[in-house]
Amino acid sequence: MTVNEKISDLQDLNSASDSTENFSNNPRFDTILSARLTRRSVLKGSFGVAATAVLGGSLSTSYAATKKSSPLAALKLNFNAVAKNIEDKITLAEGYSWSLLLQTGDPISANASPYANDGSDSAQSFTQRAGDHNDGMHFFGLDKKGQWNPQHAERALLCINHEAITSAFLHVNGPTIVDGKRTSDEEVKKEMLAHGVSVVEIQRKGKSFQVVRDSRWNRRITTLTDMEITGPAARSPALITKYSVTGTRTRGTIANCANGHTPWGTYLTCEENWAGFFRRMPEDDSKRSARELIAFKRYGVAGKGKELWATVQPDTSDFQFGRWNAAVVGSSEDGSDDFRNAVNTFGWVVEIDPFDPHSNPKKRTALGRFAHEGAWPGPVIEGQPLVWYMGCDSRHEYIYKYVSNAKWDPRDASRGSAAGDKYLNDGKLYVARFNEDGSGNWLLLEFGHNGVDANATPYAFKDQADVLIHARLAADAVGATKMDRPEWGAVNPRTGEVYMTLTYNPSRALDKVDAANPRFYNDPKKGVAQKGNANGHIIRWAEEQGHGHALQFTWDVFLFAARSTADKENINLSALTADNDFSSPDGLWFAKSGLLWIETDDSAYEDATNCMLLAAIPGKVGDGASKVVSNYEGEKERSVKTYVGAPAEATSLKRFLVGPVDCEITGLAESPDGRALFVNVQHPGETTKGKNFTLADPSTWLSHWPQGGNARPRSATIVITKDDGGLIGADLIATKT
Ligand code: FEO
Ligand code: CA
Ligand code: CA
Repeated sequence: MTVNEKISDLQDLNSASDSTENFSNNPRFDTILSARLTRRSVLKGSFGVAATAVLGGSLSTSYAATKKSSPLAALKLNFNAVAKNIEDKITLAEGYSWSLLLQTGDPISANASPYANDGSDSAQSFTQRAGDHNDGMHFFGLDKKGQWNPQHAERALLCINHEAITSAFLHVNGPTIVDGKRTSDEEVKKEMLAHGVSVVEIQRKGKSFQVVRDSRWNRRITTLTDMEITGPAARSPALITKYSVTGTRTRGTIANCANGHTPWGTYLTCEENWAGFFRRMPEDDSKRSARELIAFKRYGVAGKGKELWATVQPDTSDFQFGRWNAAVVGSSEDGSDDFRNAVNTFGWVVEIDPFDPHSNPKKRTALGRFAHEGAWPGPVIEGQPLVWYMGCDSRHEYIYKYVSNAKWDPRDASRGSAAGDKYLNDGKLYVARFNEDGSGNWLLLEFGHNGVDANATPYAFKDQADVLIHARLAADAVGATKMDRPEWGAVNPRTGEVYMTLTYNPSRALDKVDAANPRFYNDPKKGVAQKGNANGHIIRWAEEQGHGHALQFTWDVFLFAARSTADKENINLSALTADNDFSSPDGLWFAKSGLLWIETDDSAYEDATNCMLLAAIPGKVGDGASKVVSNYEGEKERSVKTYVGAPAEATSLKRFLVGPVDCEITGLAESPDGRALFVNVQHPGETTKGKNFTLADPSTWLSHWPQGGNARPRSATIVITKDDGGLIGADLIATKT
């Protein structure tokens, strides 16, 4: 569990929405499934054509070195499982190696000095250094002319999110805090510049890659970068700040968790736990309207501010520390003389054009405002709308889908973020309801529809901008299903089915378990004392009628995370073994081959293992069976029917890597030839306490770290390669046709 998750959990406790009960009258699961499969058979030809056009090209080209493969080749895991462990190192499958690419503080400019990593590096130097807490990332292939080419595997721009910081390691003696206030503006500047995104050029060297330090594309985007606010919420009165009295700009991006990308070669960085950075103390309440107070409560805008950035005094520098103060301090009616509305300029999906280093990022309000984990694209098909799937990562939050109004025109692939203005500023936002019969519905979040209007309670909406700014409240109003913390999503390139991790939710109450979030295991008779969904699960769904048009889907649970020793009837429902058991799935990503990578960010299994990376060969929705799960609390029992995918097999799910102590394994990218896998090791040694940092602390990842000695642990992007130069994780095996 990261510091972010702890903040997220606190925000979750502020959730004001009522419980949603399943009120559908849809037909039974089996009926729906057979109907869907029939329809799929009918559509097989057209989907196959689409998949070949969009994905098959990359399969057959990028993986061309596997000579006998075809786009429909079978996958076979090509490694032996790694054992769980709590060692302070990276344990990787035999036959594989890893190398460092980019660590916190590394220079990304020829002008920057090497990182001292003792707290003495200046704040300003972080404009030319990698930020901290590497998270979501994407590989944009570069051809010899310096143009984006998604097939190109030798040279690329790698975009990397820097979600948060371990402030203990950024300063000589940790952060200086006196009487609850930050007294060093230099320290706070450094923290503000260590967040955001890095764009770095990388070049293959041998089997692995290295950073091109003097590349003209290298760039940091931080909490200080000027950004445009675009889409239906731009110019809303709720976005007016001292920084932009027209509500069309804001300064910076924050809490950049996971990511997405577009078919025109731009990067999407997603703002997750932004609310915790703002300061808004109880005395502000009397200056706010009832509607504002409902919105603040629903989004968790309350408290001192995670890093106390708003407390720096005097606030006279260009860094504008006061913009982290979300209270009314000015005298204007509209907020044009303070930052009371600044929170409404965060919580968005932000588009960055990595190929135009002078471009301003654009916040895309059409995709809604919430705790965005990431934005994962659906299949890209000419003449069809574009689709992104998104999760809001807090307890009991929702899964969303954005569908562009414009139909995909491949000529837009070269238009950069001008194409973004076409596809990402004008579309429909939906939220998911998972029904108890195994069906699901996409519920439209549009002003005037589904009860999202001026009569809605507790929050009366004014217009569509209001709906998008308060997407969580709109989703409450339409009866979306509260999930066990949606993290990453991924779309299977072979089947088009969508997967999403639900990391864990200890707040899931016994009487609130439902078909899609069915576990609350607390059975003292069987020695189980954890409440709620302690280990998480991975849900998946098959869309009806194509991703851009479907308003209905069929779902099941691909995997329930659990200890292999747990009760197979009610907890270890996917029959995990010692070779593939895991807890708290978070990162999720499909290789072009169709291999699914699963990353963990866990604090429930840490007695036995550090966080890990597993490889899975998934089947498809409906390959398992329905199952009644029994849950207990004291004398109370509640059973619920769910739908479990086929049990995990030794051939379909294996642990590939275990990280060092205290880290989260997150972020995934692949070179288009499938021969290099990029993974982030985030916040190793995070529990080390500020000024009390010593080498005796439990997690330092030091003796294994190249510089050794007294180095402080740093977040890192690593590159994994196979020693024989082969595909990472699984081979493609020719199948008879
Ligand atoms: Fe930043 Fe939900 O992980
Ligand atoms: Ca995450
Ligand atoms: Ca997490």
